[in-house]
Amino acid sequence: MEITKICCIGAGYVGGPTMAVIAQKCPHLKITVVDLNQERIDAWNDENTDNIPIFEPGLSSVVAETRGKNLFFSNDVEKAIEEAQIIFISVNTPTKTYGKGKGMAADLKYIELCARQIAKVAKDNKIVVEKSTLPVRTAEAIKSILDNTGNGVQFQILSNPEFLAEGTAISDLLNPDRILIGGDQTPEGQKAIQALVDIYANWVPQDKILTTNVWSSELSKLTANAFLAQRISSINALSELCEKTGADINEVARAIGMDTRIGSKFLKASVGFGGSCFKKDILNLVYIAKSYGLNETADYWEQVIIMNDHQKKRFADKIVKTLYNTVAGKKITFLGWAFKKDTNDTRESAAIYIADDLINEQAGICVYDPKVNQKKILADLDYLETRSAAENAKSTKSFENPYDACQGAHAIAVLTEWEEFVDYDWQRIYDAMQKPAFVFDGRNILNKTEMQKIGFVYQAIGS
Ligand code: UDX
Ligand code: UDX
Ligand code: ADP
Repeated sequence: MEITKICCIGAGYVGGPTMAVIAQKCPHLKITVVDLNQERIDAWNDENTDNIPIFEPGLSSVVAETRGKNLFFSNDVEKAIEEAQIIFISVNTPTKTYGKGKGMAADLKYIELCARQIAKVAKDNKIVVEKSTLPVRTAEAIKSILDNTGNGVQFQILSNPEFLAEGTAISDLLNPDRILIGGDQTPEGQKAIQALVDIYANWVPQDKILTTNVWSSELSKLTANAFLAQRISSINALSELCEKTGADINEVARAIGMDTRIGSKFLKASVGFGGSCFKKDILNLVYIAKSYGLNETADYWEQVIIMNDHQKKRFADKIVKTLYNTVAGKKITFLGWAFKKDTNDTRESAAIYIADDLINEQAGICVYDPKVNQKKILADLDYLETRSAAENAKSTKSFENPYDACQGAHAIAVLTEWEEFVDYDWQRIYDAMQKPAFVFDGRNILNKTEMQKIGFVYQAIGS
């Protein structure tokens, strides 16, 4: 089968950047990204590529270069499926909020909808690629739906997990550590794998393209994220011990990171990891282990999440305790709401949980984030269903300017490591705050000595 057209279902943080880079590197392929969400598609098609719905360094210029040439964004899901020889599924798979596996298992209803739609529309053989993170053995479910509801055409299902991190998506896609493709071991399966290998081979060296069976590929994605998250929980667990003993977590991280067996990356102590993947994927791993009766394995990995929840909780507790055991009626300013720098994504951001705890203590929360607006902040808080939307709106206010956000504050909490925070005029901020002026640096990005020299009561993580 000659590959000329690709369709991607889901124009989100994964589908959008991935297809933009494939379009740039494969000018001979026509790529159509579809989404049910009309508003999102309209934003992708905005004349000014700075207004695309996802903020990601370098993305808007790749879109400007390819859009309308061989990259298209559309709401016509059926037409795009019908035309394409390869269909990527890049829809969201949030943790279930109802029924069996609530709070743990992945909700596959969007995936199933996609599979049914593909089956209904497809009039010739197709390769279907799982791009979203999916629990092991999802491919089997997709295959069963396709084979039983389709028009008698052949489907090959591949697993091609995404390893890009938000904030560095474009460089991760251009220079991946590896590309992983899992498929059936049958001759047809191998042909489908080769078709996808050929696409990536347009810019990725062959020795970085790994092929495996479907289940290994699916499980590798969960395992990679579990290992990365485990490093953060491990360093965060020790940050608490450092605070008690007088050791400094930055010094400890540096010392252990120089051991090449350990390595220096992903050892930054923080207020806790966030993002759409880590928690969800580990919960998924835990759920799968439990479903096979592997309780020790399940408990081992669940501890990574428990530790992360503890790290967030203890940060909020420390603020309350330091502010003389009450924050009622006090103004606490958050610098940063996104789950990490260089993204406008806020899913599972530590800031949400810390705000929620402090609002319970009747604090007033003021927020400045360079890429997140008030509407999103309130939606994140409302999603927790801790209190009414009206109460959240009464306790939370976002600002367009960091100096306005900090004006009159009792304390500042740094929750995202945006680089601009380091360069602020901290003397000016200090002068406009209530005294004593407290700073809780949840990302260890500010200079302790300088902050103390200005007069701040400065507390970092793990020292
Ligand atoms: C360890 C530390 O590596 C060393 O830095 C420290 O100074 C002393 O303790 P050691 O116990 O001698 O050294 O050996 P190490 O290579 O770390 O192996 C420890 C155990 O882990 C061995 O039983 C080894 O077989 C096992 N291991 C190691 C694995 O099972 N898998 C691995 O990938 C690595
Ligand atoms: C992650 C994986 O890295 C990526 O490979 C996978 O495809 C999707 O999930 P992402 O969630 O975008 O990517 O961001 P990542 O850089 O992994 O950070 C996750 C969270 O961990 C962030 O909240 C970040 O601030 C935090 N973190 C990261 C730390 O607290 N300390 C660190 O040392 C590194
Ligand atoms: P991710 O980080 O995995 O990319 P996002 O939530 O950013 O997650 O993107 C997933 C996108 O998939 C959303 O824009 C959503 O509207 C879209 N989507 C979900 N289900 C379907 C479907 N059946 N057909 C088309 N688009 C879908």
